[in-house]
Amino acid sequence: MEFYIDTADLKEIKSAAELSILDGVTTNPTILSKQNLPPKEVIAEINEMVNGKVWYQVSSDTAQDMISEALEMVSVISRPVIKLPMGLEGLNACHALSKEGIDTNMTLIFSVSQAILAAKAGAAYVSPYVGRVNDTGWSGYQLIKEIVSVYETQKFNTKVIGASLRGTHDIVEMAMLGARAVTMPYKIFSGLFHHPMTDIGRNQFNHDWKEYKEKLMSQS
Ligand code: E4P
Repeated sequence: MEFYIDTADLKEIKSAAELSILDGVTTNPTILSKQNLPPKEVIAEINEMVNGKVWYQVSSDTAQDMISEALEMVSVISRPVIKLPMGLEGLNACHALSKEGIDTNMTLIFSVSQAILAAKAGAAYVSPYVGRVNDTGWSGYQLIKEIVSVYETQKFNTKVIGASLRGTHDIVEMAMLGARAVTMPYKIFSGLFHHPMTDIGRNQFNHDWKEYKEKLMSQS
């Protein structure tokens, strides 16, 4: 299962990149708009910091412009994944870029039919927006389950990446439902490590070990 953080904040990326199991960084136009540098510079900096894939989402309107925008970004990324918005133009751009050997992701996926089209267009990844589906009163988990099932039945190689995740338990659900990847805000990522019982247990072990060593010292 691949793990990504969904951020362009360089401090967060530096901290997360210290963990060797991080597979890369995903971004989107909203995330990049919070930075004060041009997107290509931000993406190039992220690429320097991360030993993994860097995802960039195009914001052009036509397939041709999406392809040009993608190729410009690919020039500054070692292991690029180009995110394309679901739709006719995005699918055509996905097909063309995938044929050129560039990893693509169809994003803004809210239905199984969209996920099927993305797989047929050659997308390496597809992003169902779990949290935003839940917000509308439907089940994002059910959507993941159905897409995973259809991909298995149809033997599509496209990987499902759970996106728009809102809490640590979402990550567990994605793992159980068969998503091959997850992307999450830094806050969720850093929260995955922690459990109060781990802290209590660790303090107890440290305390007992210290007392044991002091006892041995006093006997020698
Ligand atoms: C994924 O591709 C998106 O960048 C992201 O997961 C969207 O999350 P949000 O719904 O919390 O904005």
